[in-house]
Amino acid sequence: MNYQHIRVVPASAYVGAEIGGVDLAKPLKDEALGEIRRAFGEYGVVFFRDQHLSPEQHIAVAERFGPIDINRFFAHVPGYPIIAEVRKEPEQERNIGGGWHTDHSYDEVPALGSMLYAREVPQTGGDTLFASMYAAYDALSDGMKVTLEGLRACHSSRHVFGAEAAARRGDLNGRIGNPELATQDAVHPVVIRHPETGRKALYVNPGFTLRFEGWTDEESRPLLDYLYRHAVKPEFTCRFRWREGSLALWDNRSTWHFAVNDYHGERRLLHRITIQGTSLH
Ligand code: SIN
Repeated sequence: MNYQHIRVVPASAYVGAEIGGVDLAKPLKDEALGEIRRAFGEYGVVFFRDQHLSPEQHIAVAERFGPIDINRFFAHVPGYPIIAEVRKEPEQERNIGGGWHTDHSYDEVPALGSMLYAREVPQTGGDTLFASMYAAYDALSDGMKVTLEGLRACHSSRHVFGAEAAARRGDLNGRIGNPELATQDAVHPVVIRHPETGRKALYVNPGFTLRFEGWTDEESRPLLDYLYRHAVKPEFTCRFRWREGSLALWDNRSTWHFAVNDYHGERRLLHRITIQGTSLH
């Protein structure tokens, strides 16, 4: 696709692109915003380098993509309740987001996307992996596509953020909290038609999906496990190496992500703003 106002360099065959020629600290011109949206639709996650954003500027750029969806469970940046803090201190063991998932699939109206901005990153490690759920869907056999069409799946926040999970959370407590608010359950189609691109994407994820609607956990497990293995084949993924000032904007409807926890003894601090989406039914 042709871009006139931004530079776009794909990060892999199916997912991710680095965008150049944009200073997000300045108000985005409509033409550039339109092209960033187009790249976001095409690649599922877009990356920007060397940005210098105050929290106010981070909020302002996120709001160009839609209203903010406040996360109930993450600790927030002091003074900024709408910015979630993704933090791991040198002495902490567990990281936030250290498993394949897509944000907020447990909500009736799941988030459009998340905008993560790196303030402090380890010397090495702490990368984030992304996987394309368009590519995962497209590569399924016709028979599997027919099987999945019309199926719906139950998603929940309870087993991840609720009271029982809090008891097992270890040093994530304090960074993740409010277990009493983990009451969200939602049912979504297993294959969604993306509200903006119109493309079909697989919409189950290992973090929040419990089972297929009307199926038992035991019945659902083998098929979910197959889909989870299939969806993260290396060719459907890309890996983003953060630097201070990097910003990633990912589409929660068409991608999964995974924060790699391989930087023990170092600090990693990022600020996340989540953007509201629309119903997937
Ligand atoms: C997240 O899952 O939102 C965090 C991703 C990351 O820290 O790389």
